[in-house]
Amino acid sequence: MKDAATLASPAVLASPDAYADAVATAVRAAAAYYADGTTPLGDDEYDALVRTIEAYEREHPQEVLPDSPTGKVAGGAVVGDVPHSVPMLSLDNVFSAEELDSWAAGLERRLGRPVTAWCVEPKLDGLAVAARYRAGRLTQVLTRGDGLAGEDITHAADAVLGLPGRLAEPLDVELRGEVLLTHEQFEHANAVRTAHGATAFAHPRSGAAGTLRAKDRPYRVELTFFAYDALGLPGLDHGELLARLAGLGAHTAAGTAADPRRCATLAEAQQRIDEIAALRAALPFGIDGVVVKADAVADQEQAGSGSRAPRWAVARKLQAQHKVTRLLGVEWNVGRTGIIAPRAVLEPVVIDGVTVTYATLHNPADIERRGLMIGDQVFVYRAGDVIPRVEAPLADQRTGAEQPVVFPEVCPRCGDAIDTSEQRWRCVRGRACQTVASIIYAAGRDQLDIEGLGGTRAVQLVEAGLVTDLADLFTLTREQLLTLDRMGDTSADKLLAAIETARAQPLNRVFCALGIRGTGRTMSRRIAAHFGALAAIRAADAEALAEVDGIGVEKAAVIVAELAEVAVLLDRLTAQSVGTAVTAPVVPARAGGSTAAADGVEDGAEDGAEGAEGGAAAGPLAGQHVVVTGAMTGALAELSRNAVNELVERAGGRASSSVSKRTTLLVAGEKAGSKRAKAEELGIRIVTPEEFAVLVAGQLG
Ligand code: IVH
Repeated sequence: MKDAATLASPAVLASPDAYADAVATAVRAAAAYYADGTTPLGDDEYDALVRTIEAYEREHPQEVLPDSPTGKVAGGAVVGDVPHSVPMLSLDNVFSAEELDSWAAGLERRLGRPVTAWCVEPKLDGLAVAARYRAGRLTQVLTRGDGLAGEDITHAADAVLGLPGRLAEPLDVELRGEVLLTHEQFEHANAVRTAHGATAFAHPRSGAAGTLRAKDRPYRVELTFFAYDALGLPGLDHGELLARLAGLGAHTAAGTAADPRRCATLAEAQQRIDEIAALRAALPFGIDGVVVKADAVADQEQAGSGSRAPRWAVARKLQAQHKVTRLLGVEWNVGRTGIIAPRAVLEPVVIDGVTVTYATLHNPADIERRGLMIGDQVFVYRAGDVIPRVEAPLADQRTGAEQPVVFPEVCPRCGDAIDTSEQRWRCVRGRACQTVASIIYAAGRDQLDIEGLGGTRAVQLVEAGLVTDLADLFTLTREQLLTLDRMGDTSADKLLAAIETARAQPLNRVFCALGIRGTGRTMSRRIAAHFGALAAIRAADAEALAEVDGIGVEKAAVIVAELAEVAVLLDRLTAQSVGTAVTAPVVPARAGGSTAAADGVEDGAEDGAEGAEGGAAAGPLAGQHVVVTGAMTGALAELSRNAVNELVERAGGRASSSVSKRTTLLVAGEKAGSKRAKAEELGIRIVTPEEFAVLVAGQLG
């Protein structure tokens, strides 16, 4: 797990002026953060700033300013008007395993004995609320405010899932917990908002804050509650309390992959922190840390609380996945199929240990909806394997120097016109605009695997007019090849031989080589297995395509349109006897072997929808849903990820790239990361590549 090492060593404030500036910046940021979640600082920067302020105050205790955010709940930013019966406290933070060790040692010194047991649970990235129940009925919901008094947000309670209007028992209690927008709720909220002409939320937390406060909106945005504490249920250890809350009908983190766990030792707790951190990207909601609590109520009572935070609990912070940076420009790139996609160029920013310089910007309409301008401060989101994306501008940070994003008027690659009739813009020449890229893709290792047909050769062939599409490759003659620069007899013969081998590639690879939108390696295997021949695929209508696992109505329509576009090409390939083999041979990778990085985005994207049960297949993996992750070793070491997936399907299994409840087997190679953790959580059978090779030995030969 990455430690927030950069955050652990605060910068030094050199003068009273620098200190006063830092305090003013932190106060402004905290005020914005707690008002509506918008802040000029990312979470990491805010935490680092407060730590520099704390360091200065330790050295100069006589200079502490009254409005300093240190030692105050919510940085002293907000005041509500409804008093809390018992203060709503915050948590102290630690930023590394070492800091957690010394925090725990301090607690045990105070207790004069070891802590009985720990409870480790996710630190949910939302807003703390208190929900008051009388005789089991929800009567009032409050924000945390400054910890002493909060704001009444009872009007919003209906939209908060997991916060029952009525408990299972007629109790007088106050539930405390976090309200947030899950990733799905966040996406939905932004779709609804932009459709209503409102600006997109920059961040799920600002979305949650804004939604809880809002009244009279013309649309509904749902939120989710997670209970983690309560008043009025005394005498229960923390784990017992969570179970009791769930029993009363409140939603808790139990049942999620990051469910709260009792850990007997701190070492066990550290391990669970690492597990939750590894699961972070796969969780359906945001977390900004992991909370470690003394589980026993006796330990909690003996340790007590300070004015800001309990002494028996601490937050082990994780690096923020959202950061604020500057949008320097927008690039327009033409993809293989002629799609013209905008990409944000950012002032480099480190998010969770990775430097992010580019981020996706969906499509032109999306840029307009979000109201982005060049020079804007923008919120950038990156979680695990997710491609970084720009969420929204911080419009109130504008200086006036921002410039509108310039949209291209002609295709930035070939200068021809742009078809803007769809959300995603496209060069009117479609695939023909990017013949070279199409040929390089088709010749790739997971498609036709044509050795010797890399970038330079593809450019030569296209520029010489010898190749205008994929089918032309199969009619190339030796004489034609010899007219090319740096093409001798040996190279020409080798290339022709490689093309001949490609002619016999199985249908799934030939189909994949076409680069049809909405299909990648996995979907190509399914389509090939379903239709059996290129001519049958060409003849398929949307209804027939929708019968293939994982192809819904929408995708079927896209594929049909794409097939119509390549119809002539398909006929020419069939005439050339390309793609007549059906079964997928297991082809060793040419180079590089199989690595964790081979869990390609493309396959991941297309595998999002795992299909329903298809026709019963025979073989040792019949009925199994298999995910392969990590670097392959042993007999599989030389196989590309695609080749291993082909192997799965030849053995009767269904290959997918994402672990879900449907997954029945995970093949976990070296450096298997979050997929392994998720499979463990779900109790899925996990095998090594070597064990897997034994399972499918019959297909390997
Ligand atoms: S316990 C006395 N548990 O983090 C109990 N807080 O940065 C104090 N939070 O104010 C809180 N997940 O809003 C607790 N599992 C969790 C939490 C959690 C998120 C929030 C809460 C708290 C803030 C402190």
